[in-house]
Amino acid sequence: MGVLAHCVIFLIFQHLTLSYDFKEGLYNSGQYEFVKDPSLNIEKRSPDLDSESSDHIRSRRSADQGDCNRLQGFDTELTNNTQTFSFNDLSGSVSLAWVGDATGVILALTTFQVPFFMLRFGQSKLYRSENYGKSFQDVTNLINNTFIRTEFGIAIGPENSGKVILTGDVSGSLGSRIFISRDFGNSFEQQDLPFNPLMQITYNPRDANVLLVISNTNELWLSEDFGENWRKIHDMVCLAKWGMDSNIFFTTNLNGSCNERGMLDLRKTADYGKTIKTVAIKIFSFGLGGKFLFASVMTGTGTLRMIHVSTNQGEEWNMAQLPPVGHEEFYSILSANDDMVFMHVDEPGDTGYGSIYVSDDRGTVYSKSLDRHLYTTTGGDTDFTNVTSLRGVFITSILAEDGSVQSVVSFDQGGEWVPLQKPANTKCDSTAKDPDKCSLHIHAAYSTAMKMNVPMLPLSEPNAVGLIMAHGSVGDAISVMKPDVFVSDDGGYTWLQALEGPHHYAILDSGGLLVAVEHSAQPIKDIKFSTDEGQCWHVHQFTSDPIHFTGLASEPGARSMNVSVWGYRDSLLSQYWVSVTIDFRELLTRDCEDQDYVQWLAHSDDISDPNDGCMLGYKEKFLRLRKASVCLKGRDYEVNKQPTPCPCTLDDFQCDFGYYRKENSSECVEQPDLKGHVLEFCLQGKKELLQTRGYRKIPGDKCEGGTQPERKEIDLSKRCVNDLLGPQELLTDGHLSSSAPIVVTVLIIILLSIVAGVLFVKKYVCGGRFLVHRYSVLQQHAEAQGDGVDEPLDSNHTRASNKTGLHDSDEDLLE
Ligand SMILES: *[C@@H]1O[C@H](CO)[C@@H](O)[C@H](O)[C@H]1NC(C)=O
Ligand SMILES: *[C@@H]1O[C@H](CO)[C@@H](O)[C@H](O)[C@H]1NC(C)=O
Ligand SMILES: *[C@@H]1O[C@H](CO)[C@@H](O)[C@H](O)[C@H]1NC(C)=O
Ligand SMILES: *[C@@H]1O[C@H](CO)[C@@H](O)[C@H](O)[C@H]1NC(C)=O
Ligand SMILES: *[C@@H]1O[C@H](CO)[C@@H](O)[C@H](O)[C@H]1NC(C)=O
Ligand SMILES: *[C@@H]1O[C@H](CO)[C@@H](O)[C@H](O)[C@H]1NC(C)=O
Repeated sequence: MGVLAHCVIFLIFQHLTLSYDFKEGLYNSGQYEFVKDPSLNIEKRSPDLDSESSDHIRSRRSADQGDCNRLQGFDTELTNNTQTFSFNDLSGSVSLAWVGDATGVILALTTFQVPFFMLRFGQSKLYRSENYGKSFQDVTNLINNTFIRTEFGIAIGPENSGKVILTGDVSGSLGSRIFISRDFGNSFEQQDLPFNPLMQITYNPRDANVLLVISNTNELWLSEDFGENWRKIHDMVCLAKWGMDSNIFFTTNLNGSCNERGMLDLRKTADYGKTIKTVAIKIFSFGLGGKFLFASVMTGTGTLRMIHVSTNQGEEWNMAQLPPVGHEEFYSILSANDDMVFMHVDEPGDTGYGSIYVSDDRGTVYSKSLDRHLYTTTGGDTDFTNVTSLRGVFITSILAEDGSVQSVVSFDQGGEWVPLQKPANTKCDSTAKDPDKCSLHIHAAYSTAMKMNVPMLPLSEPNAVGLIMAHGSVGDAISVMKPDVFVSDDGGYTWLQALEGPHHYAILDSGGLLVAVEHSAQPIKDIKFSTDEGQCWHVHQFTSDPIHFTGLASEPGARSMNVSVWGYRDSLLSQYWVSVTIDFRELLTRDCEDQDYVQWLAHSDDISDPNDGCMLGYKEKFLRLRKASVCLKGRDYEVNKQPTPCPCTLDDFQCDFGYYRKENSSECVEQPDLKGHVLEFCLQGKKELLQTRGYRKIPGDKCEGGTQPERKEIDLSKRCVNDLLGPQELLTDGHLSSSAPIVVTVLIIILLSIVAGVLFVKKYVCGGRFLVHRYSVLQQHAEAQGDGVDEPLDSNHTRASNKTGLHDSDEDLLE
């Protein structure tokens, strides 16, 4: 039944949509949107929770049950520290935004809209709290009762600038009106814009006074004085982004159509539009990640495009060693930092999957990391998750040959992907062939997009070391049945089922406290919490008058002790919003002391070598709170980590371009086929870059001493050809032995011609769909790609380490 269900789900995303390259991931920026919609919840409360024993305790490990009784008498303390605020407001949705760090300021914007007129008629109300949500003031007068365009969200300035922008909708006027605040939303000024914005106004991440926005007539406008004066800096702009060092990058089409993808110019300005320089032409799209600037550029022939990368703000470009894609496929930067990038390359045909490649430190040489990586074209949904609570750990999903969705985890930055271990306290579900052998599967963005009953994405926080909370199911593949909540306390090596059924959850006090509220169609009155990283859960009744629950809100950064339960109550004629804020400070009566912490070696749960703990050339020991300790880490808590370098092994190196690893060998050997051939890609930058010793340290690897690979320099420049439009050859591949932690092999080989290199393999999946693979299988499991032509590019750009996140995504809807 599981398989059948997957097929049904899978077929939904079969429409072909043209997508952007370099889709960017979503992240929680501290903005929430809650909606009143009881139909979102299809599950009934599970009966076993209602019949809970009177001591309000649940343990996920039966052996520990005795321990769970330590915490007693919390009900009165928590009740004494609970504040309920009712809004006299009938709106259907509320958007929340935290303003500043540790200020306790929250803005809540509600919108009431009548949809059935051509003219939009609506009303917005603005509320502000200064005490972490315990009470709100109606400050709608600050925005002169203007209707605020909630689709643009609340634009909060970078850092702790206290700046806020709300975009108003003033019908009948030519321009638009914004409300700006410089004092954490305490007061607002109104400014009329000489244009209508197409998108939310963006802040320069370096200087919150400088604003950038594209108008609905595709003009690029900039303000250097926080919205008072605006200057048009360019016409016909399709996409604009802030780069590193206050650079602005944008694409433009002189012919006036942004639909002519592949005909765009990429331009850059380093001085807020005073001088503008074209840095690349024939651009399809561009993206920024870490120190890298990527552009997908049309190749000389046909409709294929390839990625070019610059690490110096577009001054010099190199071609990335990645397969080209056609019109209907896309590239996506899954995650990037200054060391490396995870790049997704879509498979031809509307397959719903592609491959993940990991880059070297230059962004040019790539190793294939994972095949059949799930990434749908329509919704742009991928489960790719950077587990921020442990270095090197990433979780994502693959689309198996049978059409089912399965989770995989990598503990070494994409070197190797393995299924997640089955939690000890669970049984395999109906998707499993063998009832005793199966693994854990995690629900992430894809399940949310498929409207499954998954109220939250996986959650991890850098200051809650090792901790992950996520929805999942246990079997051979993700189940469409009601998910449960699982917790890992060691960065994803081992898991336990923590809560039954879907929940909203939050991490407080740097992981010292976890809270969860059941996601249910029925009104709720309980909140669950755990002081031992999810082993024991206590239930606290926070209200006697149950509310229709819409979501949990807590200050971003997981340092708070206050959490708000948002929802609504029915009154005679309508439903009004309620927030119940619980301060857990009194629960943790004492501050944590030295003896409350124990030492923990990260990655020591790797069963193949528990004492090693080496990851990317160093190991880290952390001081972590003992599970039995019930104490307060506090807002100033800093993660205590002690890194020690590891001796190098060959596994700390990847093969440079022109080299590969033979199966089961760590040694990089020169590609024999390369001799006498022209390299498909040439590093066009500095000459010395063209020399290689065959090995390069894996990006971010800090190993010292130990095995140093033989130094043999060869000059690749001889083999490069400057006529980049000529036919070329590709080369390919080697693979790392399965024991080697990082797959560094470069798989790419140029086949002599585009046409000859293409082999079609049809696969029959899911009762009637044909999937088409374009690449031939050259050696074992290595798939290489056909063809490639370079496109010379000269120009420059840059970009900063970046989280160009969307602040107002639907994904945050329920979160
Ligand atoms: C709760 O608060 C009231 C008044 O604020 C106080 O008198 C009472 O002692 C508190 N109860 C507990 C258990 O702290
Ligand atoms: C509200 O509108 C009035 C009249 O248009 C204007 O004078 C005033 O500055 C506005 N106040 C704010 C906060 O925008
Ligand atoms: C502009 O349009 C003309 C005619 O449609 C076409 O030949 C030309 O290549 C276009 N140029 C750009 C930059 O799109
Ligand atoms: C993953 O997240 C961590 C913690 O936020 C960050 O330091 C790291 O650079 C990220 N890795 C990538 C590849 O984005
Ligand atoms: C919780 O909220 C109160 C204000 O109501 C604030 O004083 C306190 O600092 C907050 N606690 C934390 C840990 O953020
Ligand atoms: C590589 O190792 C695997 C497992 O250790 C083995 O099955 C395979 O035959 C080896 N391949 C070669 C070429 O030695």
